[in-house]
Amino acid sequence: MSTIRSVVFPVAGRGTRFLPATKASPKEMLPIVDKPLIQYAVEEALAAGVQKLVFVTGSSKRAIEDHFDTDVELERALSKAGEHGLLAVVRDIVPSGVNCIYIRQGVPLGLGHAVLCARPVVGDEPFFVHLADDLIYSEISCLKQMKDHFGRHGCSVLGVETVPKDQTESYGIVAVESVADGVQRITKIIEKPKPEDAPSTLGVVGRYVLTPGIFEKLESTGRGAGNEIQLTDAIARLIADEPVHALPFEGIRYDCGSKLGYLRATVEYGMRHPELGGDFRDYLKNLEMPP
Ligand code: G1P
Repeated sequence: MSTIRSVVFPVAGRGTRFLPATKASPKEMLPIVDKPLIQYAVEEALAAGVQKLVFVTGSSKRAIEDHFDTDVELERALSKAGEHGLLAVVRDIVPSGVNCIYIRQGVPLGLGHAVLCARPVVGDEPFFVHLADDLIYSEISCLKQMKDHFGRHGCSVLGVETVPKDQTESYGIVAVESVADGVQRITKIIEKPKPEDAPSTLGVVGRYVLTPGIFEKLESTGRGAGNEIQLTDAIARLIADEPVHALPFEGIRYDCGSKLGYLRATVEYGMRHPELGGDFRDYLKNLEMPP
């Protein structure tokens, strides 16, 4: 069985919900305490052993390329100033031997189209898709949990969690059946159904292991919800040919595509932060409504 070497980060979206913060800067560069969202995404993928980081980008996304590139001047300045800790922080963002590959999604045709754009560099292998908006705090990297599941079963896997019934219109929603050992096989998947049409309240979060069979399906998937080519619609066709599992991963998900989720993540990552956490928790304890 092949291992998973590539992760695809679809990062072409405009981030309109965070305007004006995202007017000139990608939403994936919004920081949670001291690291941009996309760096948390990369760290999660590296913990799952990937070697190829494939970013599917759009306009105004240059900052992402710069972030993962070497900044010789900055390194020289930090070195000269004796800031060895900070120097290591900027040098270690991408370990040696890991490749960053950037593909431009010329037209904004949706998530399914973004994944299809990555086909030439992913090749005929299973791969991860990671949506950086969904930040997951867990002891074991969520993608590593999915990779382990893939290692045991050899099929596509989608990260899922129960979502409130009135929010099904924000997610791909799955119906599952239990197969051996409590493993959940997906029998149905619908993109953003109304609560009354949803087959369950099990929502897909932004973590996928996909077999290369998905590319064939994406090639011939027409526009769906939001007039976009939906990854969910291609998966709905994949389940007719091969098993696709749902994995209720261990971890806490923060929906950083919404302002409230982003604030929650900022507060909770701040509370856990090794240097700031103590002082920040004290501050929160004494917090009163400001004027
Ligand atoms: C995308 C997917 C959806 C999934 C969601 C998870 O939607 O299309 O199926 O449930 O991510 O965050 P988006 O949030 O990009 O609209």
